[in-house]
Amino acid sequence: MRYNLSEIADLIKDRRTIYPEQYSSRKVAREIVENILRSATWAPTHGKTEPWRFTVFMGNETKRVAEAQQAYYRANTPEDRFSEHKVNRYATRAEATSVIIGVGMKRQESGKIPEIEEVMAVACGVQNMMLHAAAYGVGSYWSSGGFAFSEDSKKMLGLDAPDDQALGYIYLGYPAVDWPKSHRKPLEYVTNWKES
Ligand SMILES: Cc1cc2nc3c(=O)[nH]c(=O)nc-3n(C[C@H](O)[C@H](O)[C@H](O)COP(=O)(O)O)c2cc1C
Repeated sequence: MRYNLSEIADLIKDRRTIYPEQYSSRKVAREIVENILRSATWAPTHGKTEPWRFTVFMGNETKRVAEAQQAYYRANTPEDRFSEHKVNRYATRAEATSVIIGVGMKRQESGKIPEIEEVMAVACGVQNMMLHAAAYGVGSYWSSGGFAFSEDSKKMLGLDAPDDQALGYIYLGYPAVDWPKSHRKPLEYVTNWKES
């Protein structure tokens, strides 16, 4: 063995989505953010395109994410589905979070590597990041959809080519609550073995 397998397996199982409502006021240090981003860049990448791009919002800058989310939500939500609670939640979540990382996919100029592979590579990077965060005792939450995938979001993340994509915002924080537990379906449920 080259690593402590039981610790690695425990870490993978232990990584949890933890929402900003559950964060303590302890701030995530910049050095930790740098380390987890560096781990993201060690994800597999077909053709070594390294398509991940990150924008780190720290301190007061997290407010900018909330403001953009609110503006998008106000402009794009039909009246009958509009919820003032959601508008406020964008703000309270950003206030409760000392670091939000905007994640994007920079499309290779030649377009040789299929788009889905570039998106998958970035997602692998995000997983690395979230695992490394969990090792520090830092919870993470990937916020996607709606604003996160929008043109406004692309602009905010500096993704200027038409085929670039904004893929979401990762909130990071130390939980004020007990580290959450989760469960998964048994392996048999999701695996077919072909063996002869
Ligand atoms: C690509 C991706 C996008 C996600 N987007 C959201 C989201 O927009 N809102 C949300 O509440 N959770 C989001 N999640 C987190 C899932 O809800 C979470 O992973 C799931 O509940 C399992 O919990 P766990 O991460 O603690 O294992 C996202 C996860 C992934 C992989």
